[in-house]
Amino acid sequence: MAESKADFPPLRLGIVGLGLAGSIMTHNLRHHPAVQLVGACDLNPEALAAFAAHFDAFTTTDLAELLALPELDAVYIATPHQFHREQAVLAAQAGKHVVVEKPLALTLVDCDEIVAAVETNGVQLVVGHTHSFDPAVTRMAAVIASGDIGPLRMINSFNYTNFLYRPRRPEELDTSLGGGIIFNQVPHQIDTLRLLANSPVRSVRAVTGRWDASRPTEGAYQAFLTFENGVSATVVYSGYDHFDSDELHDWVGEGGRDKPPGGWGGARRNLARVSSEAEEAVIRQQSGYGAPLPLALGEGTQHQPHFGVMVASCEGGDLKASKNGIYVYTGEGQSEIVLPTPAAVIPGWCEVMDELNSAINLRVTPIHGGCWARETLRCCLAVLESAAQDKEIWL
Ligand SMILES: NC(=O)c1ccc[n+]([C@@H]2O[C@H](COP(=O)([O-])OP(=O)(O)OC[C@H]3O[C@@H](n4cnc5c(N)ncnc54)[C@H](O)[C@@H]3O)[C@@H](O)[C@H]2O)c1
Repeated sequence: MAESKADFPPLRLGIVGLGLAGSIMTHNLRHHPAVQLVGACDLNPEALAAFAAHFDAFTTTDLAELLALPELDAVYIATPHQFHREQAVLAAQAGKHVVVEKPLALTLVDCDEIVAAVETNGVQLVVGHTHSFDPAVTRMAAVIASGDIGPLRMINSFNYTNFLYRPRRPEELDTSLGGGIIFNQVPHQIDTLRLLANSPVRSVRAVTGRWDASRPTEGAYQAFLTFENGVSATVVYSGYDHFDSDELHDWVGEGGRDKPPGGWGGARRNLARVSSEAEEAVIRQQSGYGAPLPLALGEGTQHQPHFGVMVASCEGGDLKASKNGIYVYTGEGQSEIVLPTPAAVIPGWCEVMDELNSAINLRVTPIHGGCWARETLRCCLAVLESAAQDKEIWL
């Protein structure tokens, strides 16, 4: 993260895709000292109108028009995955720096095309947001790197949510089109494990679950990863809306806000009241800019964001993300490193732009660049491959 963000000339940014992710990022960036929102592109006129009313900024349904703005430095691409490759390449060719939401693309070939376009056109690329930008995760990585509690040996990470029963468009339930947890939730976990392990992934052994024929994509998985430096990790996700692992995180939601205890199965019950695919798609679109942010992201006292329960074990102690920072467990007992809660809507999202600003202004190579994101996608694809072939995949 940049040490002196306010010293940078403001990054003049365009938002491409004003849906859920675009809205969260835009709300986070409103008061960012080193980012100025100058325009937005979306196909949804209501989201564009709401954006224009808030920012008195340029809006368009045509990406080429946004990219033609001479005052535009960079774009944040938060459209559905299948558009990332084409839009990122167009932005790079227009000489604009690029932030792309995860996953970078749906295939390794598409990732390569984006990376090549960025290199050819001399612009910077950062891929995010993933939870590896969370302040608790970056602090855990710093504690591990300090060596204060010895070398990292293993990580255990699990998250149980209602992911699969939130309103979806049909393609979001089709794995071949980037649907399901593997392309949408697993990148958060893999990125975090990779950041903490600080070593290339060596192998992946996974089992995936498709347990509901009416939501015919992966809703759960369990994997064992080994890293080249000897670290190993177990990682689990279930989006089946039964158990909610926020119960083990003091009932703090993903975005770091207190949330009401309980609510198990609530997303399933809400979905059962929706009568058709078309109605579900309409509800899905209502998360566009101008709509209230989802409850778990927008209400209650702000703590640190998280992505489930995670324990990183070093030889001399364990680290666990807590609601206000991280717990450190050693032979001396437990202590907590409390992290400041920034005045962002969700801590962690502005850090994506800080990484881009550092790359542009300080020539710092981004951690979450194109090659990093390609490797995360490679691991996600290895999860699918391991499950399909019933064997360990060596990367
Ligand atoms: N980092 C996170 O925590 C997080 C959270 C949500 C989504 N995401 C990512 O963000 C991306 C978008 O997901 P979402 O949930 O915000 O989707 P969404 O459907 O809520 O929003 C997508 C927006 O893009 C617009 N759009 C669609 N096609 C377009 C096009 N060709 N040109 C311009 N605009 C277009 C839609 O009108 C919509 O407003 C996905 O890649 C997803 O993985 C990341």
